[in-house]
Amino acid sequence: MAEFTLRLRRYLPESGEAAYWQDYTVELEPHRSVLEGILQVRAEQDGTVGIRCSCRAAICGSCGVRINDRAALACHTHLSAAAAGAKDGVIKVEPMGNMPVIKDLITDFEAVHWKKVRRVTPWLLPDGPPPEREYIVAHEAMVDVTQPMACIQCGACVSDCLSMEVDPEFIGPAALAKAYRFVGDPRDGQHFERLQDLAEDPHGIYDCTHCFNCIEACPKGVAPMSQIMRLRRLATADFQIDDRNNGKRHEQAFTELIEKYGTLFEAELLPRSYGGKFHPRALPELLRSLPAILKAVMRGKVTAMKALHHPKLPDQKRVREIFETVEGREQRYDLNLYISGYDDDADDDVPADAKAGDAKAEASA
Ligand code: SF4
Ligand code: SF4
Ligand code: FES
Repeated sequence: MAEFTLRLRRYLPESGEAAYWQDYTVELEPHRSVLEGILQVRAEQDGTVGIRCSCRAAICGSCGVRINDRAALACHTHLSAAAAGAKDGVIKVEPMGNMPVIKDLITDFEAVHWKKVRRVTPWLLPDGPPPEREYIVAHEAMVDVTQPMACIQCGACVSDCLSMEVDPEFIGPAALAKAYRFVGDPRDGQHFERLQDLAEDPHGIYDCTHCFNCIEACPKGVAPMSQIMRLRRLATADFQIDDRNNGKRHEQAFTELIEKYGTLFEAELLPRSYGGKFHPRALPELLRSLPAILKAVMRGKVTAMKALHHPKLPDQKRVREIFETVEGREQRYDLNLYISGYDDDADDDVPADAKAGDAKAEASA
């Protein structure tokens, strides 16, 4: 047995008081979970502590909280690990972010999470009449969507999403991962319509800032950001959706500049993202960006010299070779937890578990 201090964020709406912190000490074996610690507090010290839980086995997704400032499942976090990661050994537990709090550690999933999941039409929309018996789908096609299907709807990614902090209307990582689950499913007949909808929405796939927080927070390896990038790739490369958010143009400008210079020519990125300096869309967008540009000039990040000239990398040729290799492939590789491979892999020589290991590294890279 060891002693642990839990600092719980309390919020009792019926009391009329603002939220506050309250410390409790529990005695439990170090391998016990933070959830077990909280449940012990509730059973033996303070029956008013509110937490939502069910399976206690990282399956139902209901015990999501923030432990020491990061979203996690309380039932899937050892007390010893949480104490080791705490600043002063005190385990801080608070409700998840980006969602309203109902009471103590319980957040309102309906107000944010489920609303956004419903936004992406989370069911199959097949074309034509259903088959007489079951749909026959290639094994690989279903493997492709296995990663988003592993989601347990715990909301950890939503809690830690930086874009949602700035734009609460952002559809968000969990719902967009769910969207890929149907866009990647060959039985669905609305791939183009779904992608167009998510690309045209100002709070859709181009609202993600690649902060990686959702990948780190997810306890099930869903890697929501990777699913969002797959949606973008399909929207731009396969369906050529020229969205009004300039997402496709921005992606194109980004890759063209890297291919040409090796590093990002920031001063060129903005006008090119709007179709070039002389495109009718460019002027209003540039005017809108003026405060940011002025700030960058004042901080010395942008100078006249930097705006006009950007040096190429000394070994720029190698960057171009990477582009040629990738673009020369007959088909695009979409790597997820379960699909892996390299150009020169002698496929049969690679044991299945080694491939899975490679894929994990790729997925989290
Ligand atoms: S990578 Fe995108 S979706 Fe994921 S947490 Fe960051 S901003 Fe949100
Ligand atoms: S994607 Fe991961 S973190 Fe987000 S809700 Fe699903 S399981 Fe939880
Ligand atoms: S209680 Fe079910 S995931 Fe934690």
